[in-house]
Amino acid sequence: MPTDSTTPLSSHARYGERTVRGFMDMATKALTASSIASARLDAEILLNNRLGLPREWLLAHDDAEIARQQWNELCADLIARCRHCPMAYITGHKEFYGRNFAVTPAVLIPRPESEQIIASLNKIIKNKGDNVRLSILDLGTGSGCLAITAELEHPYLDVTASDISAEALSIARHNSNRLNADGIKFVQSDLFSNLTGQKFDIIMANLPYVDKLWKDTSPELAYEPKLALYAEEDGLEIIDKFLINAPKHLNGGGHIILEADRRQIPAIIKLAKRQGFEVIEALPFTLVIQH
Ligand SMILES: C[S@@+](CC[C@H](N)C(=O)[O-])C[C@H]1O[C@@H](n2cnc3c(N)ncnc32)[C@H](O)[C@@H]1O
Repeated sequence: MPTDSTTPLSSHARYGERTVRGFMDMATKALTASSIASARLDAEILLNNRLGLPREWLLAHDDAEIARQQWNELCADLIARCRHCPMAYITGHKEFYGRNFAVTPAVLIPRPESEQIIASLNKIIKNKGDNVRLSILDLGTGSGCLAITAELEHPYLDVTASDISAEALSIARHNSNRLNADGIKFVQSDLFSNLTGQKFDIIMANLPYVDKLWKDTSPELAYEPKLALYAEEDGLEIIDKFLINAPKHLNGGGHIILEADRRQIPAIIKLAKRQGFEVIEALPFTLVIQH
């Protein structure tokens, strides 16, 4: 725990000045007025992120004064959050499966529901035998969260990560270096266009599936890359193209783990069966199929 002498804050400032408590109060009110449900938590995270001090320390020293420059930076962060910029783009990182991933507006922010893809992957690998050297493709890797988690959880895998976006691939590479996930091959590719002749035992695919007509999306989505989110034809256009081409890129008995919205799963099952897939597991956001 830091002491007063090692922090950028001096303690015993009067309430109402540029203090921890002053920011907490102002930020919580402003965020609540902007309809942000997690107002107090977000205010704490903004402070923790800018000041680099643990939450417990900040709560115990809420009369500590904040330097002018840090105060100005905090106010800029607060304005961004009040405009519904996602917290992960303000702090520059997001936790996924217990690890911290760098994110920028070039990549989708990893979602907790995508951790189910890793849970399904773990199950498939367990059934195939833990130390078998399986080849796996993460198609539409974005921040690299799925490919890197797969590589770190299962060091025997031979992992390829692909994305249509060069900017996304550079963030994914950066994350693989930071997290010491060595050995992942990165390929820029529109679906399978640059993966000609390559076959995999497992393909994970969290492709764009948001239908622009959905009314229940959050204002935060406006900050994320459209290329990562939206697809035509009820959100199924890219997934359908993927399913048509995927059988050529799977080894016999190969699996696909696909993310989609729960409303789309029945339609995707129909598309998959048309391409000769068998359904192994259908969950609200995850579909596992085998060829
Ligand atoms: C929903 S994001 C998923 C990102 C990451 N895998 C995750 O789970 O957080 C979809 C990703 O697919 C990529 N993408 C979109 N269209 C693509 C295509 N035709 N071929 C390959 N990747 C594509 C986007 O650039 C984006 O990074």
